[in-house]
Amino acid sequence: MNTDSFSTSASTLTSTSAPLRVCVVGCGMMGTIHAQRWNALPDARVVAVVDIKPDRAERLANACGLDRWYTDYREAVGRDDVNVVSVCIPTYLHSEVTVFAAERGKHVLAEKPMALTLDGADAMIEAAARNRVKLGIGFMRPYSPVQEQVRAWLAAGNLGRPLAYHSLDARELRPKREMHDANANGGPVIDMGVHLFDGWARLFDAEPVEVFAAGHKLAAGRPEISHIAEVAIDTATVVVRYASGDTGTFVCSWGLPPGVVPPGGPDIVFGPRGALHLTYSMTHQEARWLREGGMWETIATCDEDMYQAEIASFARCIIEDQPPVAGGAAGRAALHVALAAVESVRTGKSVCLAGDRQLLGQINEACADGLDEEERTLLHYASHAACQLVEGDW
Ligand SMILES: NC(=O)c1ccc[n+]([C@@H]2O[C@H](COP(=O)([O-])OP(=O)(O)OC[C@H]3O[C@@H](n4cnc5c(N)ncnc54)[C@H](O)[C@@H]3O)[C@@H](O)[C@H]2O)c1
Repeated sequence: MNTDSFSTSASTLTSTSAPLRVCVVGCGMMGTIHAQRWNALPDARVVAVVDIKPDRAERLANACGLDRWYTDYREAVGRDDVNVVSVCIPTYLHSEVTVFAAERGKHVLAEKPMALTLDGADAMIEAAARNRVKLGIGFMRPYSPVQEQVRAWLAAGNLGRPLAYHSLDARELRPKREMHDANANGGPVIDMGVHLFDGWARLFDAEPVEVFAAGHKLAAGRPEISHIAEVAIDTATVVVRYASGDTGTFVCSWGLPPGVVPPGGPDIVFGPRGALHLTYSMTHQEARWLREGGMWETIATCDEDMYQAEIASFARCIIEDQPPVAGGAAGRAALHVALAAVESVRTGKSVCLAGDRQLLGQINEACADGLDEEERTLLHYASHAACQLVEGDW
């Protein structure tokens, strides 16, 4: 990506007059994407950037027209003028930085996966709720109008029911080695899986009830990752059953030898009335229906930048005091499924998502002084899952 300079929006806002004054934590790929999208908004300016690698921080600072940069997130996030923080660092650090920022009254947009543990996710949700700041999680697909159009189209019964969603993600060994570290980014079941687990809950309009996964560490013996103490599962088949009777299957491998790059394809949703092909790329999303008789029909298409839409939406949610489209509840729910899949690989058994019973108690306790919109959503998820357990209808 060209980071020579980011054009700012046409407005005459300066870094002091902008309503949203953003600190970007992590100046790698996602930090660069966030900074560019924030500066394209009429009511936001990036005022601070930070990375433990000074060259990266300097490069992004230059692109944003800033004359200083930071290598310690506490210093950058703690600046009085910063009121929004984009967290774009390896996943195991999301919770620590988010809590630090929320405790100082800053709104936080944290990249997905939200965290590596449910405790980490809960700490983020609780810190945001306690400090009355917004917490957004960096799922971008919900911001494409295609996802909502497909949800409504499926809900109208166009493909029939039940649905079986299938997604394949096969890649050579990841050049970012922390993607192979169970304690850094967690491997594809967590890192990529959360996009799907969030999307399935939205598209099926239902909670996940059971997860089964089988997995491997194909790349475990490779010299490129021999420095990693605990290598993540890099290859898996994950099956998730939903309360609606629909299923999702995610087949992934990030453990293939360098140069082995199998051709990608669209996600496919199978139903009694055909197959729906779904494509999500940064600036093009589409849904095409292959219907009886072999005819193709385009259901939805969009050529907008999903990351720009995500960041514009989070900015609106702060300015208009609305809940984020993808907040802590959604981030936690997707992480819960991902961690259940990892657990299933470990034990060889399917996992019922019964932990939500415990979550219900925790939320009731944490929010005794009144619930905001996001907390109500979380409560809804938890109580719904708990009711299903009690009724045994799954
Ligand atoms: N939403 C998406 O589509 C998407 C895509 C890719 C990655 N991600 C997520 O974004 C996050 C970052 O991924 P990336 O691809 O940008 O990684 P990256 O390696 O390109 O960038 C991460 C940066 O964080 C810096 N960093 C590490 N520790 C730090 C610390 N303590 N303080 C400040 N900086 C620190 C690193 O030096 C690096 O420059 C991950 O959680 C990843 O899963 C999301």
